[in-house]
Amino acid sequence: MTPKVLCIVGTRPEAIKMAPVIKALQAEKNIDCRVLATAQHRGLLDQILQGFAITADLDLDTMRPNQSLAALTSRLLLGLDGVLQSEQPDVVLAQGDTTTVMSAALACFYLQIPFGHVEAGLRTGDLRNPFPEEANRVIAGKLTRWHFAPTQRAVDNLLREGVAASDIALTGNTVIDALLMTAAQDSALAIPLDPGKRLVLVTSHRRENFGEPLQNICQALKRLAERNPGIQILYPVHPNPNVKDIAHRLLGRTRNIILCAPLDYAPFIAAMKRSYLIISDSGGVQEEAPALGKPVLVLREATERPEAVDLGVVKLVGANRDNIVEQAQRLLDDPQAYQAMARGVSPYGDGKAAARIVDVLRQYFQACP
Ligand code: UD1
Ligand code: UDP
Repeated sequence: MTPKVLCIVGTRPEAIKMAPVIKALQAEKNIDCRVLATAQHRGLLDQILQGFAITADLDLDTMRPNQSLAALTSRLLLGLDGVLQSEQPDVVLAQGDTTTVMSAALACFYLQIPFGHVEAGLRTGDLRNPFPEEANRVIAGKLTRWHFAPTQRAVDNLLREGVAASDIALTGNTVIDALLMTAAQDSALAIPLDPGKRLVLVTSHRRENFGEPLQNICQALKRLAERNPGIQILYPVHPNPNVKDIAHRLLGRTRNIILCAPLDYAPFIAAMKRSYLIISDSGGVQEEAPALGKPVLVLREATERPEAVDLGVVKLVGANRDNIVEQAQRLLDDPQAYQAMARGVSPYGDGKAAARIVDVLRQYFQACP
């Protein structure tokens, strides 16, 4: 019988980072690849799956407006349990640190289905930061059969936690596969921008920034826009009501700030390529921007992606209003400081991560009796 691999995706970044793996598995004639959407995100997930021409074979339709973590987790666990029992996959793969991934690892553990964790081994060492992602990946990591680690740092984190070296594969991050596949298309950004202005691209959605930190971030963006008429800020706003409401209330009426709906992946990459500077709390953006030679100011206190920080192309600025303004202003005013951060480096991968992951599974299935 052809072995069955079930790829589980729940949110936007999981769809982006699993797309290259799903494509590579679909190209294998000796593997039956099935895709399960938990739809922890609804619109954002559908947008990305459509962009990569991936159709989910199964859909749990989990998302509810302003969902709590406990309610989301319980819906996911019950839904996943049912699907895993009916599908009986030989292997399950999921990517990252969302509640979908933690629940998938746990549901597989209960049914003793081997679980492969894509983007394994990222750690800040602080369970509350980022919240709840650090806890999600630590829990998933305890229940994982194959740890597909994107960097040597991630491998070292896993070894330090006692994971056997034979259970870890250093693959690179599949986001670079997705980025290279997409950047090559050279998509247009359908938002009219002023060609005479430098573009500052912004994203923000982290739970630990909800409330006052996000207000500080928005105030910093407003101040930057008012002080610098020669820039244009483009902010595709995450649909989470905790983000959307504050962003529109505080930034909706500033002339050189454009708030827009989340962009499809290809236009978002076009926006990154067109940008001068990126300000973001996103994990994926921290990995993509260095490969495109774009400096990122990260709106977080800690990052599980220290490689680009060590290379000097990504800087943590937290959610302090004055600090954000000061650091961004420096990059706008000081060409040397800017150039030092605008070097194209790619510490997160070479675009072949998905092929390495599929190699590991192919070898496993060949060795199976
Ligand atoms: C989730 C992940 C986070 C990841 C982020 C990527 C968890 C706990 N959080 O955060 O790790 O970095 O996705 O974007 O796993 N919503 C919509 N439409 C959508 C998506 C979300 O309306 O397509 C709204 C809904 O009201 C939903 C809320 O956003 O309840 C929160 O979604 P949720 O997935 O729980 O958290 P995110 O903040 O998106
Ligand atoms: N992204 C996108 N459209 C947007 C904003 C982001 O396609 O409008 C992509 C971005 O390139 C990156 C991913 O979404 O690959 C990051 O998702 P998000 O910030 O939601 O999650 P995180 O990476 O922080 O978990």
